Amino acid sequence: MRLVDVYNEQTTTRPKAKFLYELLKERDPSVNISHRKMPSFEDHVAFVDSRPYSEWFIIFVMERPVGSIYLSKQNEIGVFIAKSEQGRGYGKSAVRLLMDINPSKRFLANVAPGNTRSMAMFERLGFELIQLTFRKEMP
Ligand SMILES: CC(C)(COP(=O)(O)OP(=O)(O)OC[C@H]1O[C@@H](n2cnc3c(N)ncnc32)[C@H](O)[C@@H]1OP(=O)(O)O)[C@@H](O)C(=O)NCCC(=O)NCCS
Repeated sequence: MRLVDVYNEQTTTRPKAKFLYELLKERDPSVNISHRKMPSFEDHVAFVDSRPYSEWFIIFVMERPVGSIYLSKQNEIGVFIAKSEQGRGYGKSAVRLLMDINPSKRFLANVAPGNTRSMAMFERLGFELIQLTFRKEMP
């Protein structure tokens, strides 16, 4: 497995943004905390260019992109594996790799309540549940 830096300017942004956009399209509402409506591709490119996370990588396995992983400025990990590549240990390995290359005393992960698979993965990696966050949308 290899992590390819999304922000590295030696490789062009658009093909990377395209892969990340396809990955975003696959997310279903039970998984999605941050995106409830799909952005346009141009908005997505602008988002990538704004460097929203402190680290952001595309996960490659045998020269094939299989997913993405980021570390937010608050040390939150987000990991997304393409549907066709899930259940092969890539998610778990990518989280381990990200923590290895960014040593820290504490990592967090925000997981949507219905996402049992992701919860199981983080628990297996030694994470413990510390809070449940509620939201109320005001008119
Ligand atoms: C959650 C996700 C990242 C896991 O990655 P993955 O590569 O599919 O998972 P792995 O193969 O590494 O498995 C990791 C753990 O998940 C659990 N898991 C894997 N496949 C599973 C399945 N079919 N059903 C239930 N749990 C499963 C297991 O606990 C597994 O640990 P184990 O191998 O020690 O038993 C991936 O499924 C995904 O991208 N889902 C959509 C996006 C998402 O939910 N992201 C997390 C938000 S932070």
